[in-house]
Amino acid sequence: MPGIAIVGAQWGDEGKGKITDLLAERADAVVRFQGGNNAGHTIVRGGEEFKLHLMPSGILHPGKTCVIGNGVVVDPRVLCDELDELRRRGVAVDEMRISANAHLIMPYHLLLDHAGEARLGQLQIGTTRRGIGPCYADKAARLGIRVQDLLDEKILKKKIAAALEPKRLSLRPFAKDPSLDLYSMTEEYLTYGHRLEPHIRDTASLIWERLDRGENVIFEGAQGTLLDIDHGTYPFVTSSNPVAGAACVGAGVGPRDIQEVWGVAKAYATRVGAGPFPTELHDDVGDRLRTRGGEFGTTTGRARRTGWLDLVALRYAARINSLTALAITKLDVLAGIDPICVGTRYRGSDDATFAQFPYHQSVLHHAVGEYEQLPGFAEEIGECRSEADLPVAAREYLEYIEAFTGVPVALVGVGPGRDQTIWTQASADSALTGAVAA
Ligand code: GDP
Ligand code: IMO
Ligand code: MG
Repeated sequence: MPGIAIVGAQWGDEGKGKITDLLAERADAVVRFQGGNNAGHTIVRGGEEFKLHLMPSGILHPGKTCVIGNGVVVDPRVLCDELDELRRRGVAVDEMRISANAHLIMPYHLLLDHAGEARLGQLQIGTTRRGIGPCYADKAARLGIRVQDLLDEKILKKKIAAALEPKRLSLRPFAKDPSLDLYSMTEEYLTYGHRLEPHIRDTASLIWERLDRGENVIFEGAQGTLLDIDHGTYPFVTSSNPVAGAACVGAGVGPRDIQEVWGVAKAYATRVGAGPFPTELHDDVGDRLRTRGGEFGTTTGRARRTGWLDLVALRYAARINSLTALAITKLDVLAGIDPICVGTRYRGSDDATFAQFPYHQSVLHHAVGEYEQLPGFAEEIGECRSEADLPVAAREYLEYIEAFTGVPVALVGVGPGRDQTIWTQASADSALTGAVAA
């Protein structure tokens, strides 16, 4: 022990990759437990940028075991490409392990994701079109193809045929698409099976052994709490559970195996894709956040919507995930904005106010933020390395977040680089990072 979950506390892209990479230095294993290559986790190492989609964000540390857990949906073509690319850049990937029970994204999942969005027209979710939703749908329908199926030609072909059968109608527009041919699809996926075979394991057992030996295991979330299919802004969500509780299911451990839950949140808010965003900005400040923060999707390149920090939603994320610590990223992006607003309540369409995150979609879809104004800071803070280096207004901003959410801020990001990080006093309370703060 301990097990530590790192989850997104907003709408994704909070900087989970950077935080996981940082904490991985002190861990023995890093496990992805949900999502797929809809994720894009950026790590900047010595000025060099790595964009990871399936690979856990511990991969840049030699000797750490990186695991793709059973809860992840894996596009094997993307995984093989990512392995090749990392190898080419000198990263050791032989120790990567993938669960035999993880489900596979198939060519028809990609087509169905595209077709589903096209059908929704104006009402589309704005998915990453990576086949995530259709793959999880097949998993729930018990028509999924799993990693272990790649190792047996007969089983693979039979399962693909069975999965295609009920989709015949919806796939009719793609009848001539060569990627849908049963035989070539089976051949292609068998090739991936050969390539991935050395990595395939019973990863739940492997993780249990690590925890049993007293090693530190990080469970790395993808997406974010408000994109959770149960607890997010349904239906404008992803098709998995990015919340901390899902780490148990998606990795195969029990709740008592997780001692700490770190929530990653930006010092402001962004969202990519459609759906409610009560503190969204449509003005110069929003543009400034987008430009200064480089708010363009890691996976799809789409411009991210931007807004003020939504503390109603962040307090909700603290509760849903039982956060023990917050990592606040991108504080540097707020430099020069004065005052800084934080959303502390919502106002509904009938002027009712809400102090708690509303469960009802009709309320949420019309909710707009009500704000407290906090003093801004003019100075650039990219060189700050301790709390004492920060301008008073920046420190007060962090204190306001702590007081509102009831969760200590253990780490602050002041730039994308590994060293552009402030470990606060609160990080001393973590079993993993206590040593850094001391
Ligand atoms: P993830 O999906 O949660 O891992 O986040 P992304 O990688 O999609 O997006 C976060 C972006 O912000 C990446 O480009 C990071 O390099 C960058 N980033 C992370 N932390 C900081 C920070 O503290 N300051 C700044 N300026 N950029 C950061
Ligand atoms: P990381 O891990 C931000 C969003 C999509 C869309 C919705 C559903 O980098 O934080 P999907 O393809 O999952 O069916 O799309 O979820 N989305 C993300 N937004 N960061 C992500 O991942 C996301 N993964 C999915 O934009 O609104
Ligand atoms: Mg991302």
